[in-house]
Amino acid sequence: MMQRLDGARGVRKVFVSLIALLCISVHVAGAAEKAPGHAAIASAHPLASQAGLEILAKGGNAFDAAVAVAGALAVVEPSGSGLGGGGFILIHRASDGLNMMIDAREKAPAAATRDMYLGPDGKPVPGLSTGSALAAGIPGEPAGLALLAQKYGKLPLKTSLAPAIKMAREGFPLYERLQNIIANKVPQLKKSPDAARAFLTKSGEAPAVGHVIKRPDLAQSLELFAEKGADGFYKGAFAKKLASGVRKLGGIWTEQDLADYTAVERAPIVGTYKGARIISASPPASGGIALVDALNILEGYDLKAEDPVTRIHLIVEAMRRMHRDRAIYLGDPDFVKIPVAMLTDKRYAQGQRTSLRLDRATPSDVLPSDAIDAAHGQHTTHFSVIDRDGNRVGVTITLNLLLGSGLVVPGTGILLNNQMDDFSIKPGTPNAYRLIGAEANAIAPGKRPLSSSTPTFIEADRGVMVLGTPGGSYITGMVLLATLNFVDGMSAKDIVSAPRFHHQYYPDVIQYEPGAFTDAQVKALSDRGHKLQLSGRKWGNLQVVVWDYATGTVEAASDPRGVGAGLVY
Ligand code: DON
Repeated sequence: MMQRLDGARGVRKVFVSLIALLCISVHVAGAAEKAPGHAAIASAHPLASQAGLEILAKGGNAFDAAVAVAGALAVVEPSGSGLGGGGFILIHRASDGLNMMIDAREKAPAAATRDMYLGPDGKPVPGLSTGSALAAGIPGEPAGLALLAQKYGKLPLKTSLAPAIKMAREGFPLYERLQNIIANKVPQLKKSPDAARAFLTKSGEAPAVGHVIKRPDLAQSLELFAEKGADGFYKGAFAKKLASGVRKLGGIWTEQDLADYTAVERAPIVGTYKGARIISASPPASGGIALVDALNILEGYDLKAEDPVTRIHLIVEAMRRMHRDRAIYLGDPDFVKIPVAMLTDKRYAQGQRTSLRLDRATPSDVLPSDAIDAAHGQHTTHFSVIDRDGNRVGVTITLNLLLGSGLVVPGTGILLNNQMDDFSIKPGTPNAYRLIGAEANAIAPGKRPLSSSTPTFIEADRGVMVLGTPGGSYITGMVLLATLNFVDGMSAKDIVSAPRFHHQYYPDVIQYEPGAFTDAQVKALSDRGHKLQLSGRKWGNLQVVVWDYATGTVEAASDPRGVGAGLVY
């Protein structure tokens, strides 16, 4: 029998229902429009995050903010990225749901040859692919940022780059982390007078913490880029200055190499994990394929139900297999055919699981083929942005090693990358991260070296996460752990802080951060046949923003291992 609503109680009930309906419809409309109503930025330096907020306040969207953050990082975090480098920009446009990746990876100059880093004895010449002007690929960052601003942004480069130009001109205080990096690179920085002038004292040492570092040449280069767009960098008098400057330093760039460079839009890698959608970087970045590969393997288990040691064991075995696939199959898609569909197929993962035992480590030697290894890192940089309309951008940009090659092109303030070292310079010869590549990643003119970059979006029932990190070959494993933690409900702050472990196929060893495992876990894992190595220091610099549907809030978190800042606007 229907109950009659009477008097005040009935009115209150109707009112409550109306409010509830209103809340639901607001929530539904919000979700449909993908509009969090707030913006969030996490980057490796507070001044860069602030530059992004400044541009949002001027009416820019996430993409304009990304230009501002990247420009600022080129000034205040020169160890990680800059106009002389390249990277990957992952984009989500809220108005139509488009997901896209801008590939701004460096390209080998036309005069590059397969054996260019080998001496007459056929052996790699130490330092040639990392510390000389020959190490520099043709930069992609300016082309990538120009494309981002032009096609997806709302503001001119002049506006978005204004904070960076100001920082370069007026200076920023040297902080301890950068001071240490400079101090460790003094001999390299002395190799080019412009680098010494930019980063060292007159007596040739790292300046004191707090010393204001001004970069007038870089300010001018940024200004030209801001005024003329990509042409201000890749063409005309500036390109001439770059090419002849690099040649004077011993390199092989030509004006034509610069004129020929274009950033390319490529479809991201898409996968799923237990109801969450993964959108991540595609080749020549290896991250997306490797991440989806590993998550597909792990989807066959109930990680939450497993005991902690088995959970770690399974993640390690997935990491081992994703890095094996990276080493064998991946390279520049414009040059090699990559079996993307196979590597990201759930049935492929099913096959991978058949070699995986719950009670024993699989020795890497029994998995067929090439080898791999890596290094920790504070080089490279990643930042994540989400704006109030729900536009998202995840950007991983790099000069490769700390301060790139350490060489600055005369009169430009442009630090040269040493990204050519990410090629496999000789079959079987490890690069700076001790990565050993296959044929797919051999050097060729105009080819892009394979990258570990993994800028990623995760769309789950609980909300959306934008994430990424530097860390060389440790990158994808970090993004994998963060993804699992997000799906398990962790906050952005806890995700960036969580202890890390890593396995990359070769060397066949689990590296773990201090505090990541208990003694009992170390013993249990080694009883299963794993070799373990406690890392002397922590690694990575994860930058995460999360839009939580349930609370309607956005959260930005910067890795406590670094000095960055997560800011909400
Ligand atoms: O693109 C790559 O894979 C490397 N050049 C990234 C280097 C890096 O992340 C160093 N960071 N610590």
